[in-house]
Amino acid sequence: MTKIRAAITGVGGYVPDYILTNQELETMVETSDEWITSRTGIKERRILKGENQGVSVLGIAAVNNMLAKTKIDPKEIDCVIFATVTADMTFPATANIVATAVGAVNAFSFDMGAACSGFIYALTTGASFIQSGMYKKVVVIGGDKMSAIMDYTDRSTCIIFGDGAGCVLLEPTTEDVGVIDAELKSDGAGETYLHMKAGGSRMPASQESIDKRLHYVYQEGSAVFKFAVTNMADVAAQITARNNLTPENIAWLVPHQANKRIIDATAHRVGITEDKVMMNIERYGNTTGGTIPLLLWDYEKQLKKGDNLLLAAFGGGFTWGAVYLKWAYNS
Ligand code: UT7
Repeated sequence: MTKIRAAITGVGGYVPDYILTNQELETMVETSDEWITSRTGIKERRILKGENQGVSVLGIAAVNNMLAKTKIDPKEIDCVIFATVTADMTFPATANIVATAVGAVNAFSFDMGAACSGFIYALTTGASFIQSGMYKKVVVIGGDKMSAIMDYTDRSTCIIFGDGAGCVLLEPTTEDVGVIDAELKSDGAGETYLHMKAGGSRMPASQESIDKRLHYVYQEGSAVFKFAVTNMADVAAQITARNNLTPENIAWLVPHQANKRIIDATAHRVGITEDKVMMNIERYGNTTGGTIPLLLWDYEKQLKKGDNLLLAAFGGGFTWGAVYLKWAYNS
């Protein structure tokens, strides 16, 4: 029987207009453009401003961008998965809101919460639906409105994050392209170092939780940094080795954009030179679920059918992983 693979057949993306520069952050917390640039590689990030603007706004715009390019009928979409930790509401799922707004009226939809690894978790899940033969068109979105959960008095955390979303369309193929391998990992011990304490069922919102600023991201940056460097590089090396990938036959490393130093360490570990590393951290910062699909969106025109892509991510949970795929089309 011919093997069915899930191919990425379209990409969409969206970042909001407002640009929060390092210079503006200098007026908000005690920091400097020099410190942020040298420690993270970030120059600016996008912020979604305005009342009643949830992450669905970013997801809807990203999917509409993909629909305009691929010209598929949204009624043909079977499933929408939204990887996010900043859902519009605890429920319903933001994926439900996005699916209805873009006209994917025949799709079932759900959110996936794996923080910065959310997109590769969701991509692997969507690809499995396609490979099983059950579904023919799956939209995988990754995106976050991190500004909604950012403490803009915490200089070690607020300088990293931004808002944005990207998406891909997955369709079946019998050609030698598409998602080939994935390795996904998690470790709940990571809760200590990266979490948002209040607002969930363990600590519902109260005056005290607000007064103590517990509805914001808490991150022990240097501890997370050490786990990220080791684990993202390890999993990338693992998937590289078992698929006989080499620095020569990998066309692009597509790494989660948390810190340029983590990206450099991962590239170094698998022997990939900087010209083959997708990077847009300087413009968007860390958009959590959004980083990897926003890279594909930014680099789409440079990608060629048959290119070997190595996706890798690390984030809250801890969660981490890598995906190996062959690009399926020329733009
Ligand atoms: O994507 C999800 C997963 N998250 C990550 O992968 C993030 C991983 N962590 C990081 O990227 C880095 O740890 C940070 C960028 C968050 C922080 O960089 P760092 O090099 O680890 O700095 P640090 O937290 O160890 O702090 C070093 C110094 C401290 O000062 P002292 O104690 O040495 O005097 C901080 O107070 O830098 C200080 N500092 C700052 N100074 C100027 C921390 N943040 C800032 C800042 N501006 N924004």
